[in-house]
Amino acid sequence: MSLLELDDVKVHFPVKKGLFFDRTVGHVYAVDGVSLSIEAGQTYGLVGESGCGKTTLGRAVLRLNDITDGGVVFDGTDLAKLPGEEMRAFRRRLQMVFQDPLGSLNPRQNIESILSEGMAAHGIGKDQAERREKIKAILAKVGLPSNALSRYPHEFSGGQRQRIGIARALVLEPDVIICDEPVSALDVSVQAQVINLLEELQESLGLTYLVIAHDLAVVRHISDVIGVMYLGGLVEEAPSDALYAKPRHPYTKALMSAVPVPDPEVEDRRERILLHGDLPSPANPPAGCRFHTRCPWVQETKCATERPPLLDTGGGHKVACHFTAEIEAGTVKQTLATGIEAVIATEAVAAEAVETSEGEAPEDGSGTGAKEPATVPAQEPATVPAQAGPEADAKETGKKAPDATEKAEGGPTA
Ligand SMILES: Nc1ncnc2c1ncn2[C@@H]1O[C@H](COP(=O)(O)OP(=O)(O)O)[C@@H](O)[C@H]1O
Ligand code: SF4
Ligand SMILES: [Mg+2]
Repeated sequence: MSLLELDDVKVHFPVKKGLFFDRTVGHVYAVDGVSLSIEAGQTYGLVGESGCGKTTLGRAVLRLNDITDGGVVFDGTDLAKLPGEEMRAFRRRLQMVFQDPLGSLNPRQNIESILSEGMAAHGIGKDQAERREKIKAILAKVGLPSNALSRYPHEFSGGQRQRIGIARALVLEPDVIICDEPVSALDVSVQAQVINLLEELQESLGLTYLVIAHDLAVVRHISDVIGVMYLGGLVEEAPSDALYAKPRHPYTKALMSAVPVPDPEVEDRRERILLHGDLPSPANPPAGCRFHTRCPWVQETKCATERPPLLDTGGGHKVACHFTAEIEAGTVKQTLATGIEAVIATEAVAAEAVETSEGEAPEDGSGTGAKEPATVPAQEPATVPAQAGPEADAKETGKKAPDATEKAEGGPTA
């Protein structure tokens, strides 16, 4: 049995309206049916665009968010159903390291006070002197001097603050650490140091990690298994090497095509898959395959109507796509442009949208796909800005989108 098993976890946030926010008018389907398992001592890397539900999933494991449905089985106990009192005991064993180290450290507490707070709450160390000795040992482990004890968070660099965040988790002797974008706020030069530190700590302390990142490059080396998330669900999961060697889901292919290759010759020949549009709103996710509004291979049958399950295609390489084999065999055709044509088409449509908004924009926002309130802008370099207009409409209804190149040539800027 795995140390941590998520079974069809759903986290739906109600959207409230009315004078006293007393009416539920819909839901944000932030996490919508995620199953995964993490073996003891291993690292699971979870990647996906900003807004796809990674943080919500991580917080759900710790029950910092209510779980709408599904199970979170940790060491044989389903945390999702545990009463608050019993959950407290498990909290110590599952810790979280946050993206923004400064924001998560109280500026008015010195490091000793920050680190001993949780220890005292969980009854670790018989007195402050004993806790201080333990904190000193952990500070040394994360590469900070023991005189850090009496200093305050603002006196440290970003990388050092993240080390303090890691130390705060470690003093509680956890089994699992959920690292949510642990290096995203750090300079590139210190990112590798923090990742290396996490790896060393895992080896010496036998820790189990769930590492969340929007950047595939960050999780590559540290992860044993990688899961790719899109709009609340996993679209692909595989052992790290297998995923990098051969991404199989169209979305993973697009993400991967955005990661630069160090070899300039390979880099020149590399095909880049540019996606149309932004991540749709999780308050109104597309029916069928959630990726069908942006998938370069979207097919008229099935894609807009049936949600593909995440199935093992062999060797633990799981993919959620109706046409994985056909796309690889080349027996289904690409239906949306993915190269420079996608960019031209996007620019043409964007220009059209600007013209419309300079004139009278429709009050109700009809005809625009970019008005949903909960949409988080996509931040992946391989994505193309949000689209409005007839093309987006065609994609939403699952119809084959009009030829992108045609659109570009006929567009007002061409
Ligand atoms: N407390 C909340 N109430 C309502 N919506 C939320 C809440 N927390 C997150 N969301 C929404 O859930 C979606 C997923 O967010 P998040 O898990 O933070 O994504 P990620 O970490 O992948 O960037 C987003 O659309 C976000 O706006
Ligand atoms: S199911 Fe259809 S839309 Fe979804 S990834 Fe596969 S081909 Fe694309
Ligand atoms: Mg997040």
